[in-house]
Amino acid sequence: MSSLLLLATEATSEGGGGNPGATIAVVILLIALAAFAVAYFIVGPGRRRGPKVRGDIPLAMRPYHSDEELETTGLERAMSWGVALAVFSALFVPLYWLVEPERIDHKIDEYYLRDVAFGRSLYGENCVTCHGPNAEGGSAPHPDPEVDAPWPAPRLDNIVARYEDNPELIPDIREFIEMTIAHGRPGTPMPAWGSAYNGPMNDQQIDAITNYILSIQTGELPEAQAFAGAQGEDLFGTHCARCHGADAEGYIGPQLINIFERYGATEGDEASIEEVREHIRFTILTGRNVPGHTPMPPFEGVLSDEAIEELIAYIESLQQTGGPAYGQIGGDPGDDDDAGDAQADTTDGSGDENEGDA
Ligand code: HEC
Ligand code: HEC
Repeated sequence: MSSLLLLATEATSEGGGGNPGATIAVVILLIALAAFAVAYFIVGPGRRRGPKVRGDIPLAMRPYHSDEELETTGLERAMSWGVALAVFSALFVPLYWLVEPERIDHKIDEYYLRDVAFGRSLYGENCVTCHGPNAEGGSAPHPDPEVDAPWPAPRLDNIVARYEDNPELIPDIREFIEMTIAHGRPGTPMPAWGSAYNGPMNDQQIDAITNYILSIQTGELPEAQAFAGAQGEDLFGTHCARCHGADAEGYIGPQLINIFERYGATEGDEASIEEVREHIRFTILTGRNVPGHTPMPPFEGVLSDEAIEELIAYIESLQQTGGPAYGQIGGDPGDDDDAGDAQADTTDGSGDENEGDA
C-alpha cells in the first residue's frame, strides 16, 4: 500500500498532464483505496458481529467474542487476511520489480529527449551565426581586424567522425566538445561560453548543447581537397596562416621559421633533416591537442599527401638560422606544454602571460 502511495504521489506531483503513466497510477490507487474501504467496512473492527451490546456499556467493558468464535471464525478471518496480504505481496513485489526498470528507462529517454530539444534551442540562439543553422559549418571574421581572411567555423554534425580515429589527440569526444564550448578557443573567434570562463552558460546548458550536437551526427567525413598543383604558399595561407601567422612567425600556434634548427637538423646531414620533415608530416596529419589551448586540427583526410609534401617544402623554404630558440604557442618562451616531444628548448619558465589569448 505504501509503495502504491509513493507511486501515486510521485505521479501526481509531476503534474500528470498528458502523462498516461501517472493517470494509471492514480486510478489504481483510487481503486485500491476503495477496495480497502469496502473490506474494512465488511470485516473491520467497526462491524464486529458479536452479541448486540447496549450503548450504555462503556466500550472497554463490552463483552468480546466468545472463546468459541475466537477459535473458529475469528481465527479463520484473521488467517485469511494474512493469506490475502501474503499473496498480495508475493504478486506485487515481483511485478513491481519487473515493471520498474522499464519505467526508469522510459524516464531516462524522456529526460534525454527534453535535454536535446533544450540544446537545439540554445544552439539556435547562440551558435548558428558562425556554425550554420544546421551545424553545416560557416565562418567568422578574424579576431585581428587587420586580417581580411575569415576564420572557418567547423561543421559540427560530423565532429565525432572527424576525431574518432584519433584517440591520442581526443581521448573522450564528449569531454572535448564540452570543454571546447566552455573554454572557447583562445585567439580564434570561438568565444568561451562556460560561466567558469566568464561565459553566459551554466554546465546544464553546455551539457544540453553537447547532447544536441551528439544527436545530429551524420558520420560523413570531409572529402580530401583536390590538390590541383597548389603552391605550398597558398596551401599555407588557406590552412595554416590563421594560427601560425602569415609568414609562419607564430600566432596562437608556434612560429615555424626555425623549426628545422630547433629540432636539431644540420645542413648536409640529410638524415637529421628528414627527421624534422617527418615530425612536421606527423603533426600535420594528426594535429595537436594541448589542454587549455586551441588545438591544431588533424589534416589527415583533409589534405592530400602531395599537398602535405608541398607544405613541408614551403616551411623548409622559410627557414632562418639564429631565430628564436623556442617554438611555443604564441612565441612565448615561458612554459613548455609539449610533453613527450623532442623539443629541447627549456628556457626560464617566465610565465605564460601572452600565450593563446592573442
Ligand atoms: C563568433 C563565431 C562563433 C560562435 C558564435 C560560435 N562558434 Fe564555435 N567555433 C568558431 C570557430 C571559428 C571555431 C574554430 C576555431 C579553431 O580554428 O580551432 C569554433 C569551434 C567550435 C567547436 C570545435 C569544432 C572542432 O571541429 O574542433 C565546437 C564544438 C564549437 N565551436 C561549438 C560551438 C557552440 C556549441 C556554439 C554556440 C554555443 C558556438 N560554437 C558558437 C566560431 C564560433
Ligand atoms: C587552429 C590553429 C592551427 C592550425 C589551423 C594549424 N596549426 Fe599547427 N599548431 C597549432 C598549435 C596550437 C600548435 C602547437 C601545439 C603545441 O604546443 O604542441 C601547432 C603545432 C604545429 C607544428 C609543430 C611545431 C613544433 O614546434 O613542434 C607544426 C609543424 C605545425 N603546427 C604545422 C602546421 C601546418 C603545416 C598547418 C596547416 C596545414 C597547421 N599547423 C595548422 C595550431 C594550428
